[in-house]
Amino acid sequence: MAVKTARTRVIRRWRKNMDVVDDTEYVNKLETLSAGSVRRNFNPYGDIDWDSPEFAVTPNDERWILPSTDPFGMHPWYQAQSRERQIEIGMWRQANVAKVGLHFESILIRGLMNYAFWVPNGSPEYRYCLHESVEECNHTLMFQEMVNRIGIDVPGMPRMLKWLSQLIPLAAGPLPIVFFFGVLAGEEPIDHIQKNVLREGKALHPIMERVMAIHVAEEARHISFAHEYLHKRVTSTGRFKRFVLSLHVPIIMRVLCQAIVVPPKAFWEEFDIPKSVKKEIFFDRPQGRQFLRDTFGDVRMLCHETGLMNPLAKLIWRICKIDGQASRYRSEPQRQHVVAVA
Ligand SMILES: [Fe+2]
Ligand SMILES: [Fe+2]
Repeated sequence: MAVKTARTRVIRRWRKNMDVVDDTEYVNKLETLSAGSVRRNFNPYGDIDWDSPEFAVTPNDERWILPSTDPFGMHPWYQAQSRERQIEIGMWRQANVAKVGLHFESILIRGLMNYAFWVPNGSPEYRYCLHESVEECNHTLMFQEMVNRIGIDVPGMPRMLKWLSQLIPLAAGPLPIVFFFGVLAGEEPIDHIQKNVLREGKALHPIMERVMAIHVAEEARHISFAHEYLHKRVTSTGRFKRFVLSLHVPIIMRVLCQAIVVPPKAFWEEFDIPKSVKKEIFFDRPQGRQFLRDTFGDVRMLCHETGLMNPLAKLIWRICKIDGQASRYRSEPQRQHVVAVA
């Protein structure tokens, strides 16, 4: 009997958490985001002229050389390679980032569907989650088309994560807070990489430029939603749960971001890259570490604001090598200079 009451209590609390209509401020924010999705959205085939001659992928195109904001592109080993080799590596890496991106989006879409399934009638979360899913479906179409056009059979995510990807979306129903932190762990690095590249102003292949500009424009809303969602839910969570969560957030960020930014095994084998380069590039070289630190400035800010930064959590952030200052406001360093979508 006691077990049954406890169970009903848990379910009642879970249901109550989904009821958001009383929170006017939150409802208004979601309505603004939904209106934004209606006003400004892109179609991967309507808004990108894939067959125009300038979009053709041709051999030996220097525009595929990795930009110097990329941790790999800035490494002396890469810079010492021949032009042809730099182009080959650049095409492989950029195609794979697109493939990893679409793998993440596929997980995200499935999770959003699982979450929205339980949301009560009249909730503005339903509408926004569905707008976001539609946009993510379009992104996966756009990224896959880009991979196909580049013409390299890239694997995307590491194999282990591909298997886990079957389970992650299931967490969105019962453990939405953990799920949405996972969403940020995927969206923040991709957004950070793309904004950096656009800001650098290097000559890019038109496919890359167009796809990234569209993605950055729509991703701003998605990241906004994840932040709003987590802000609301985490602040109303009990102290003990919050403490436990605070220790897991940096681990979620590190594991998922590593899957995105560090190319998979096939990459290192294909180009015969020395182990030492692989080891130092992302987590040991100061430049690589700075890149990862900058990526999570906004997440650290969210953790500070919602009571998820305590001495032990800070230590874990440091052990995960993604510690650093929190942003003062969202997308603080990247706010300017982002190329607008024409
Ligand atoms: Fe996306
Ligand atoms: Fe997104």
